[in-house]
Amino acid sequence: VSEPANLYEAVGGEPTFRRIVGRFYEEVARDEILRPLYPEEDLGPAEERFRLFLMQYWGGPHTYSDQRGHPRLRMRHAPFKIGPIERDAWLRCIRIAVDEENLEEPYRGQLWAYLEMAAHSMMNSFV
Ligand code: HEM
Repeated sequence: VSEPANLYEAVGGEPTFRRIVGRFYEEVARDEILRPLYPEEDLGPAEERFRLFLMQYWGGPHTYSDQRGHPRLRMRHAPFKIGPIERDAWLRCIRIAVDEENLEEPYRGQLWAYLEMAAHSMMNSFV
């Protein structure tokens, strides 16, 4: 049996990312802090962008960059005020989504460490 090449493959590829990001956006849709930040009424396109980004980051297909170019995530988040309250709301939602997937270690820990770090680094406000 060959070892999985990367985390993307090890956790089950696209269907796993589809479930995690889908579950995350179910939480965003009813979060009083996060929902108002999303400019579009339809969260579907935002869900797809985040799913494609994560798949690419973890070693899956490069569809995100084919469609969107370089991620430049801090720049793309600059229009939205992201302080500690928004960061914590985001982490609460993504935590639910990741936990429900019951990924094996070390993949769960690796994914979570990255998401927590990335959420901190996306802050652009102290309040
Ligand atoms: C886009 C909020 C953290 C990845 C967005 C958008 C909002 C948002 C409002 C615009 C929705 C759209 O695409 O139309 C937040 C908040 C965060 C956060 C409040 C709290 C810390 C993160 C993190 C990541 C991430 C940690 C990556 C690990 C993305 C991606 C997009 C996006 C890939 C789409 C970028 C594009 O336009 O191609 N986010 N985000 N976000 N976010 Fe976040």
